Amino acid sequence: METKVVVIEEKNIDNKAKEELVKAGEIIRNGGLVAFPTETVYGLGGDALNPESSKKIYAAKGRPSDNPLIVHVANMEDLSKIVKEVPEAAKKLADAFWPGPLTMIMNKNDKVPYETTGGLDTVAIRMPNNEIALELIRQSGGYIAAPSANTSGRPSPTVARYCVEDLSGKIEMIIDGGQVGIGLESTIVDLTAEVPMILRPGYITADMLKEVLGEISIDRTIIDSTSTQKPKAPGMKYRHYAPKGSLMIVEGPQDKVVSYINEKTKEALLQGKRVGIIGTDATKALYNEGIIKSVGNRDDEKTIAHELFKVLREFDDENVDVMFSESFDDSGIGQAIMNRLLKAAGHNVTVL
Ligand code: TXA
Ligand code: MG
Repeated sequence: METKVVVIEEKNIDNKAKEELVKAGEIIRNGGLVAFPTETVYGLGGDALNPESSKKIYAAKGRPSDNPLIVHVANMEDLSKIVKEVPEAAKKLADAFWPGPLTMIMNKNDKVPYETTGGLDTVAIRMPNNEIALELIRQSGGYIAAPSANTSGRPSPTVARYCVEDLSGKIEMIIDGGQVGIGLESTIVDLTAEVPMILRPGYITADMLKEVLGEISIDRTIIDSTSTQKPKAPGMKYRHYAPKGSLMIVEGPQDKVVSYINEKTKEALLQGKRVGIIGTDATKALYNEGIIKSVGNRDDEKTIAHELFKVLREFDDENVDVMFSESFDDSGIGQAIMNRLLKAAGHNVTVL
């Protein structure tokens, strides 16, 4: 299959862009697949109410079919048509954070096929904060099932070229809307639990949710790497975001971390390995050898969220064998950053 790539600027959806989005919507309504930008990461979209589309999504990603998809909507009325009821908590959270990087889990009704929910009676739903995505949802009939637009197990794409790399030839269209704003997938909160529970940390933090709901819990398995329990979001059990090379996170006082990484880099280079270092703006100049990248500024963790997956992908492009990364503060959005980084590293952490 030939994959058409179209470029659309979110800030400038002119008539030509509109036409492309109408065509993209037709593709989805006819059971085809389109990758598109959201504010979090790129999504691989198909008609959420068509079981055949969901099957195609799993096939294109090489994803296990017990791992449910997120349904993307463009307005609250459409939400109410696919769930048993819209819980009070969902209304409050939607008021506060939609459109935005928050996914809510509710009880589904019969309109949503089990192929989309991986056999579950619940459905994950979000309204993305991106004009291209919202217009595409409207053009597609209102419901787009979209996992991140990467081959299963690879870091989520935050720029279109990585959708092209993973999905070219497998889907009908890729919409290139530039680098996404946030860079990490949405926060997932389960509203079917007695106390709403965070199943995946993201840009909307526990504190932000607590402010709206009063009470919030968190699935311990996603923050405690020693937990042997199964995470509640099926997708969180897979080794995700895995770069091709091995990755070690080094934690400790900055000067010790820098000298340890410099030492380990020297050793690996002597063994003929290609080495990548994930540092920050403040430490980048302190590393001596290897391919050194800054992932952002510690004082503004959003910059780190924005760059993390891109940096991991760039190291894949450069065929590094070994990567060393600094560790980050585990509070606020740092919780999401560390959750993704720990998964990318397969929980390989050295504490100094
Ligand atoms: O930001 C995002 O959420 C992006 C963009 C494209 O919207 N999408 C995304 O989808 O990250 P995906 O498929 O890569 O991750 C969806 C996660 C998986 O871990 C899945 O197991 C979980 O959501 N999930 C979906 N439906 C669920 C349900 N009914 N119950 C529990 N977990 C669910
Ligand atoms: Mg994903």
